[in-house]
Amino acid sequence: MSENILEINNLSKYFGGLAAVSGCSLKVKKGTITGIIGPNGSGKTTLFNLIAGNLKCSSGGVIFNNENITDIPAYELFSKGLLRTFQIAHEFKNLSVLENLMMVPGNQSGEQLINAIFKPSLILEEENIIKRKAIEVIEFLNLGHLRNELAGNLSGGQKKLLELGRTMMVDAKLVLLDEVGAGVNRTLLKDLGTAIEKLNKEKGYTFCMIEHDMDFIGRLCDPVIVMAEGSVLFEGSVEDAKKDERVIESYLGRGSKIKDN
Ligand SMILES: Nc1ncnc2c1ncn2[C@@H]1O[C@H](COP(=O)(O)OP(=O)(O)OP(=O)(O)O)[C@@H](O)[C@H]1O
Ligand SMILES: [Mg+2]
Repeated sequence: MSENILEINNLSKYFGGLAAVSGCSLKVKKGTITGIIGPNGSGKTTLFNLIAGNLKCSSGGVIFNNENITDIPAYELFSKGLLRTFQIAHEFKNLSVLENLMMVPGNQSGEQLINAIFKPSLILEEENIIKRKAIEVIEFLNLGHLRNELAGNLSGGQKKLLELGRTMMVDAKLVLLDEVGAGVNRTLLKDLGTAIEKLNKEKGYTFCMIEHDMDFIGRLCDPVIVMAEGSVLFEGSVEDAKKDERVIESYLGRGSKIKDN
């Protein structure tokens, strides 16, 4: 068995003539919190979309837990334990925090009309299990006081915590976080970081996280992978990434710089 939970082999994605991801190869070791950084437009989100089954690859392949998952749709990957969060959180605004989490697990018996008519007790029992799990997740994330609040009323940071919470409703193995820390205030960012570390240590989640905040990356990630123009430019420690000439150049060339707060 490989110690890598994820292997990307020579992956490419073209949008018309534009190569958003271009001959990208990388490996993510099981048990790590691996960071992915890179200038705007370097293909990070597209890479996640390809891995998580939200986009079809133009060429190349993806191996997850020693299984070829290239172009497998998102809902199938979800049941294999490969989950992702989105750069823009998408909660159900008119449902409470608790209800949002209870929406996550698929294949609930209550969704089948036949069960609703003939096995109401089965549905009730299942709903209770899911509710208990959702409450556990809410407590884990310190969102207890917001349990019955409409998700649409949460702050940006609290919505990001809820996004993370959705990954905890199932037995996740690999979670892809796309800028989960962006726009989150310092205090909540700390909570978010603590929750990620706790999930990594206590529940064995492997994380792969795109982030622009080098402080946040530095605190959580080892190693960090730097993308530029659709492929991997650098892999190593955050400290070495900050010093690497090619990395600095790739940021400067795009007129952006490595954010260090
Ligand atoms: N659906 C799409 N159709 C056409 N072009 C796209 C599409 N999605 C992404 N692109 C282009 O692909 C390139 C990579 O975009 P991507 O969103 O993957 O970058 P990113 O590294 O996540 O950037 P950011 O840090 O700003 O989030 C960009 O030039 C972008 O404009
Ligand atoms: Mg992006």
